[in-house]
Amino acid sequence: MELSKRISALKPSPTVALNGKAKELARAGHKVFNFAVGEPDFTTHPEIIDVAVQALKEGKTKYGPAGGSPQLKDAIIEKLKRDNKLSFKPEQIVVGMGAKEILFHLFLATLNEGDEVLIPAPYWVSYTAQVLAAGATPVIIPMPEDHQAPRLTPEMIAAHVSPKTKALILTSPNNPAGYVIKKDELLAIGEYLKDKPWWLVSDEIYEYMSFAEPHHSIGALVPELHDRYIIVNGLSKGFAMTGWRVGYMAGPEPVAKLVKTLQTQSSTCLPPFIELASVEALKRGANLMADKMDLLKGRKNLAQELINSMEDVSMVPPEGAFYIFIDVRDALDKAPGYENHNSFKFSEYLLDTHHVAMVPGEAFGVPGFLRLSYATSDEELKEGLSRLAQALKDVKNG
Ligand SMILES: Cc1ncc(COP(=O)(O)O)c(C=O)c1O
Repeated sequence: MELSKRISALKPSPTVALNGKAKELARAGHKVFNFAVGEPDFTTHPEIIDVAVQALKEGKTKYGPAGGSPQLKDAIIEKLKRDNKLSFKPEQIVVGMGAKEILFHLFLATLNEGDEVLIPAPYWVSYTAQVLAAGATPVIIPMPEDHQAPRLTPEMIAAHVSPKTKALILTSPNNPAGYVIKKDELLAIGEYLKDKPWWLVSDEIYEYMSFAEPHHSIGALVPELHDRYIIVNGLSKGFAMTGWRVGYMAGPEPVAKLVKTLQTQSSTCLPPFIELASVEALKRGANLMADKMDLLKGRKNLAQELINSMEDVSMVPPEGAFYIFIDVRDALDKAPGYENHNSFKFSEYLLDTHHVAMVPGEAFGVPGFLRLSYATSDEELKEGLSRLAQALKDVKNG
């Protein structure tokens, strides 16, 4: 019996696999420093939990409308107006089981066989897999050699355009690199895109974690893009609600219509008690989590300081999300057996021998890097990063 060639070619998410291995070690009784997780280490705000519990008690346990309840769509519209200076109608909004599902359906809804999707490296692991699953081809825009350079320029995009180009994905604040695309950079990219007949998928899920400058939505800065701009967001990161699985898109009505059709044929709806809690979170907005965001910023500064003190190590300037993309290429150049900046092999050594989990750059299309998630305690950061420094010394000494 034959399986799907397209799906058989996909690899399972490497971050999920690494987390599994770290958890196995922990189950075996080892103290593991896990910096591989892509979620805040704090729990959802108690007042949001209360709303869900109350809704459950009131019997809000039935199917809801596919693609999101009117109340949740209204809360999203208000949020997009307040935080992003963007204006949408309910018909332009679709809610789903996390931004991950929404993105999957968005690619299925907008791409055809042979279409090319421009994805700047390093990229979130699921974009390439989802684009491939939709029958299209990811075209990677390589990361600039210079860490301090702008992350993405019109010239970098133009160098990878072909007649088959159908979409561009932007992720700012960025996972895994922790950079934020600045306002003037977004304006330049937006200007370049004005006459391009492509979808612009803007994944803004880390918007509340923009530490360098306030978050800007390219769709608000360059309103002429309205007929191709699709903003994707969710409650996982900014509201520490990863397990609740709430994601949404807002964009041109024909796109929303198709994504909603896919929702009706897949997960159908969010549980209504989760929708009600989400309405409350969206109404409260960034203020609800402001103290947690300050905490994350403090940890970023601590991790940055510790990494700066390491030999042969540098990093992409961390400006947002809760990741630091650590450049270990110089260190691996001096390590026998780690040719071609094999950070995958090094991450295995780091976990097996020093019990520190970090996702290798290969997972995001850039060997020679490690992604540190600093959504963890100061103590863990201090000990874990001191173990990283030791592991790098070990491999340099062969
Ligand atoms: C850049 C980016 N987009 C989307 C997602 C999906 O988030 P969720 O499905 O939890 O809403 C993630 C999660 O790690 C992410 O890092």
